[in-house]
Amino acid sequence: MPYYFCDGPNGEKGNWTHLPSKRVMPPEFDPLSLAPEQRPEYRYEGPEVIYTFWSKHGPCQVTGCGHRTPIMTSSVMAVKTISVKHWEHTCRNCRAEFHVEENAARMAPDVPLYVAPSEYPHSTLDRKKGVVCPECGETQLINLGKGTNKKVELTLLVHPEWLAGSSKQDSNGQPFGGSAQDDVASSTRWDQERASKIRLLEVRGELPDEVTCPETNVTFAPDVGTVPKKSNYACGACGTVQDVLDTIKSSGKTGPMAGYAVQGYAPKRDKSGAPYSGRFFAPFDQNHAAQYDAALAEWEARKETDLAAYWPRSELPYGFMTHHLQGGVPNHGFTHWWTMFNPRQLLVHSQLLKSIATIGDYDWQTREYVLGAFQQYLRNQCLFSFWNPQRDTPEPMFSNNNYHPKSTVVENCVFPALGRGNWASSTEGALEAREWALQPWEAVSAEGLKRRDPDLASEISGKSFKVYPSDPVRAAEPFCGSSTDLTQVSDGSLDLVITDPPFGGLLHYSELSDFFYVWLRLVLKDKYPDYYSAEYTPKSLEAVANRAREPEDPDGFYKRLLTQCWREAHRILKPSGILAFTFHHSEDEPWVAVLESLFDAGYYLEATYPIRSDETKGDGEFGSKTIEYDIIHVCRKRTEEPTPVSWGRMRREVMADVRQLQAMLENHAKEGLPAADIQVIRRGKALEYFSRHYGKVYVDEGRPISVKDALVGINQLIDEDADKGKEPPPVNAEPITRQFLRTFGTATEMKRDQLQKFLKGSITTPDEFEQRGWCSEKSKVFTRVNPLDFARDWSGKHKRRLTSDLDQALVLIGSCFDGSGINASDTLKNENFKPHVALKPLLEWLQRNGPDQANRNAASRAVTIYNSWAASQATKPQQGSLFEEYDL
Ligand SMILES: C[S@@+](CC[C@H](N)C(=O)[O-])C[C@H]1O[C@@H](n2cnc3c(N)ncnc32)[C@H](O)[C@@H]1O
Ligand SMILES: [Zn+2]
Ligand SMILES: [Zn+2]
Repeated sequence: MPYYFCDGPNGEKGNWTHLPSKRVMPPEFDPLSLAPEQRPEYRYEGPEVIYTFWSKHGPCQVTGCGHRTPIMTSSVMAVKTISVKHWEHTCRNCRAEFHVEENAARMAPDVPLYVAPSEYPHSTLDRKKGVVCPECGETQLINLGKGTNKKVELTLLVHPEWLAGSSKQDSNGQPFGGSAQDDVASSTRWDQERASKIRLLEVRGELPDEVTCPETNVTFAPDVGTVPKKSNYACGACGTVQDVLDTIKSSGKTGPMAGYAVQGYAPKRDKSGAPYSGRFFAPFDQNHAAQYDAALAEWEARKETDLAAYWPRSELPYGFMTHHLQGGVPNHGFTHWWTMFNPRQLLVHSQLLKSIATIGDYDWQTREYVLGAFQQYLRNQCLFSFWNPQRDTPEPMFSNNNYHPKSTVVENCVFPALGRGNWASSTEGALEAREWALQPWEAVSAEGLKRRDPDLASEISGKSFKVYPSDPVRAAEPFCGSSTDLTQVSDGSLDLVITDPPFGGLLHYSELSDFFYVWLRLVLKDKYPDYYSAEYTPKSLEAVANRAREPEDPDGFYKRLLTQCWREAHRILKPSGILAFTFHHSEDEPWVAVLESLFDAGYYLEATYPIRSDETKGDGEFGSKTIEYDIIHVCRKRTEEPTPVSWGRMRREVMADVRQLQAMLENHAKEGLPAADIQVIRRGKALEYFSRHYGKVYVDEGRPISVKDALVGINQLIDEDADKGKEPPPVNAEPITRQFLRTFGTATEMKRDQLQKFLKGSITTPDEFEQRGWCSEKSKVFTRVNPLDFARDWSGKHKRRLTSDLDQALVLIGSCFDGSGINASDTLKNENFKPHVALKPLLEWLQRNGPDQANRNAASRAVTIYNSWAASQATKPQQGSLFEEYDL
């Protein structure tokens, strides 16, 4: 606790109580002076640090400079919208109108405040003087009545003075530390140096382009940081722009880190009803630095003594995640696993690990349970966890599945109950798992129950309800090994194999697990020498496509191992047995590999069930964004030889089968199942069929079709079928026009990813549509151009260039919008205008398929105008055209 206590805003202080004597310690008491053995005798109550914010500094490599600059893309370190109760008020003296606010809307109450000029006048209610006029200072004690809540936008900035950085040594020429590899003395000097310069500024109101710090009178642009371009920083002293990795690599250490802020919790402030529930931000000042440096010194003293056995010393082994990506993680100075933590974190982790293994007389099983919590805590308390301003919390390591080094990092706390990913919350999962094992429950979805028992469903308020089916949880026999080799299980002995295999090269489980494994093995290696003696997780039989281990043919390796796993499962399954597995699906490629190896291993697909994947995340969230589906595959052993069939015949049968699904699927579509989901279901069905004839589907005499070609064929079949019932765009329209109209159909807008999905394999990109002005993109959504805008753009321009069929149609339709002020016949009569052969069919098509009524009406008028114009033309001699015959 000495390393996490602090003062709250407005001088709020905590109490240290000496427990044996029940004595509250005087203000001058220094908890940092306590020896570790003395600490249990004291209890602390008061403000405490929840998170500490650290910034990596770029060590300038220009000869003679060496200056260290914080790497920050902008001054903004946190944003928050706070709700305060307020009353409208008019000053009785100067008649100024303003808001009286019940509490000061602040997130960093002790730092200087800049109020954006756009803010409405306001003042905070004074406990003694009452309402204070912000204009003239008049005070008034009145009963304000029932206020209402208003929202106040706040932004916390790091002052440019701190962003300017510090030199590489102090005034006596002593070098500064701050890297994982630096000694205590130099790092202490560095921490003090940086803390002495720290300055934050809070801004109230929508963040303006420029703000002024009232203390320093410095005006600056908050969105300017030290990063002029990606992965680079500009040296705060000599101005040289340099690559982060290059400079850190040549320093041979991790980038020096310095704290710049803390987020804390002040209990008295909370009780007083202050906004932000007692939380606050504060600068990482010299008190914080001194506290941190004390932890540094303690770690130095204990890391080779009582804690020597409880932290990993091994290097990062060569791997794809560690050495192929991020320019090589060791090049960022993360050469050993312990360099991924700061000394205060190492002190915490090694003590936790030691306690889990040795404290009290708990049985070993219980200790292993707690290790599960420890593993969670490791990813929440390391130098790879970072601030997520949208959530107003840190994100743990592996929010993305890699070792991506961060420029700004959030250090977590241990003791407080508040915050994401602290020790208490890391233990929650372990406790919940235990509770579940004692009394298993299932969630009943309210939506599903509504269909079966609406009365019962009406009693559920949330989305689901926990039910306790009293399922017995029986003992299981876990075994750790490779599924390629399950010799301990005898042939034909199992009814069911359920598995969840890796997806190609998407996730490198073993390389990522080393981050945890190197810690856990320290207390497990004596108990389980077979599993934990090795420094790292076993990798040679991992079924993944890994370019570091299998540079020649990673995909082939993956497929071979997976096939071997399926074969082993085949061997141990009874003839009637079932193999069920989930497989993520976003692209067909790795899926084909899995299916092929599955069929090769002697299975056929009995059924597929697509489910929206866990890992599908919305925009702007962390985690994998490409995966969209988990498809559950249910397979059986093929007991007889597949019968040969021609591809043509299979296509027909597949389509007949798939159409039978149509009614059911349309029903789902009504309930909101997206079209893309339906496509996956249909494809699964088609594959079930294909798998039954696997290896015996012939495109030609003696030429069987591959899984991949079959999948392409099935996709085309399904796409064509899905388009049925829709009127195809005119055949004589230009291909790009047809593509555009087919893609959008009657829709006005389309999400970027959906558009890309539709265009996959068509050689067309959304940009081509945009360049033609047919649609425009905003926040990842493409919106069709309004023909009126399109026509206005063209009015006054030379019509000789108005050649594209859709351009012409849009101009005419736009002119026919009510109140367009443009005359459609003028365009037609313009001597430079040559109507495209598809213009009339396009106008007619859009009359029926326009995106809305206004469009269809305008198109209808355009058709009429076109027809009368064409009739007037008929008598004049015309030059023949190559395409005319199609127009008849
Ligand atoms: C998709 S994950 C399973 C995730 C798991 N269902 C869950 O929810 O946590 C695939 C797992 O297969 C493991 N794996 C890879 N090769 C293996 C092999 N040869 N034998 C057994 N497991 C393997 C990976 O280590 C990884 O943990
Ligand atoms: Zn006034
Ligand atoms: Zn420099």
